[in-house]
Amino acid sequence: MLEIIILAAGRGTRMRSLTPKVLHALAGEPLLGHVLKAARNLRPDNIHIVVGYGADEVERAVAAEDVMFHIQTEQLGTGHAVAQALPHCHPDSKVLVLFGDVPLIQSESLAQLIQDSANGLGLLAVSLDDPKGYGRIVRDVAGHFAEIVEDRDCTDAQKQLTEVNTGILVGPAEKLSILLAQVGNDNAQGEFYLPDVLRIAVDQGDAVTLVGLEDAEQMMGVNDLSQLETLERVFQQRAAETLLQQGVAIVDRSRIDIRGTLKCGAGVRIDVNAVFEGDVTLADGVSVGANCVIIDSVIGANTSVQPFCHIEQARIGGDCRIGPYARLRPGSALADEVRVGNFVETKNSQFGQGSKANHLAYVGDSEIGAGSNIGAGTITCNYDGVNKHKTILGDGVFVGSNSTLVAPVTLGDQAFIAAGSVVTEAVADNELALGRARQRNVTGWQRPGSDED
Ligand code: UD1
Ligand code: CA
Repeated sequence: MLEIIILAAGRGTRMRSLTPKVLHALAGEPLLGHVLKAARNLRPDNIHIVVGYGADEVERAVAAEDVMFHIQTEQLGTGHAVAQALPHCHPDSKVLVLFGDVPLIQSESLAQLIQDSANGLGLLAVSLDDPKGYGRIVRDVAGHFAEIVEDRDCTDAQKQLTEVNTGILVGPAEKLSILLAQVGNDNAQGEFYLPDVLRIAVDQGDAVTLVGLEDAEQMMGVNDLSQLETLERVFQQRAAETLLQQGVAIVDRSRIDIRGTLKCGAGVRIDVNAVFEGDVTLADGVSVGANCVIIDSVIGANTSVQPFCHIEQARIGGDCRIGPYARLRPGSALADEVRVGNFVETKNSQFGQGSKANHLAYVGDSEIGAGSNIGAGTITCNYDGVNKHKTILGDGVFVGSNSTLVAPVTLGDQAFIAAGSVVTEAVADNELALGRARQRNVTGWQRPGSDED
């Protein structure tokens, strides 16, 4: 049996934040969520999460059927934290301990640790150019593992050691229980340190397998916002690299952010500073201009999203042109060949094939047929202060510039709205609607003069 214990009880004082550390987001997902993903990939029999600081909030964020929570009321150290979960593990289980603040760890590395450790104790170790803050691995003269010394407990000589503890270890449940019971808290932080079980094991004649992995970035922990920012960039560069290998033309891998899942077809191009959140799908040949934010949306083949667009929960067909500076809000559904141009806001609205709103408009709660044209400055007045109402346009409708469509209102096929109209009543098919005051010119009119004259 394999059981996994994830430590997530600490506040993370060094983050200088009230949010529990493991809930800080990396690529749009809590740190703990990343660790859980790696854990689940191993198909363990049980997953235990030790919670403490902000326990309710942490549980709410990651609650799932396959997860058991154990409370560590006082954060007395990583050893003490593991001791809260171990009694709930089967004595014959192999137990893998993960840290909720080491989010880039990959399940392949964990599988390697489990395999190399066989039925004994094993630890994932890594060499870092800058080992500051991490527990150092101390070896004896023969080069065998001796102990782990926390950064704050290190002598000056030990501080020079670059091989560090990733925090991730594996061992038989029963053995870990026996060892943990012998761990004391006589150290700089007055805490029960988990890595001490390994020193005790070695002292008692047990072997500890150190599994070193090349990929140091996977093992990096998050203790402060500076490290979080470092890991975010590592994560994003890796995501960008994967997409580049798949044939997505990312203009600058250091200027893209994927906070969720981005699926791309062939021939997709993404310019600088694009942010993708949630589930986004870009079909073949889509191009995304600079400085766009795209959230939970699907974009059809060969559509061009010009720079500075904000698109959320929208479905956009193929061969459309969006932006620059367009805002598509939730429920915007565009058929093929639609154009939504600069400073146009759409919400909960359908556009039929080839329809256009090219400049400065608000289209909300609307159904627009095919081939219709919404002129510059058109506003759908969908809200009367209490309720929302629909605006319905047929096919081939022409709405002249600066028109106000007061919903609920229906414009039939080929209806033509004169510029500047306020439309409050239905317009039938092929009708022209003039909803504005007639122009009156006054000849011989005197301009006001200045009082001082
Ligand atoms: C720990 C290791 C250090 C290692 C580093 C790797 C110990 C004593 N030190 O140090 O050797 O190099 O991780 O990243 O294990 N936690 C609890 N309850 C507690 C204390 C901590 O659940 O009482 C959780 C934290 O929420 C965190 C994890 O354990 O997710 C690690 O704790 P942290 O305080 O960050 O340990 P480090 O100082 O980073
Ligand atoms: Ca840490």
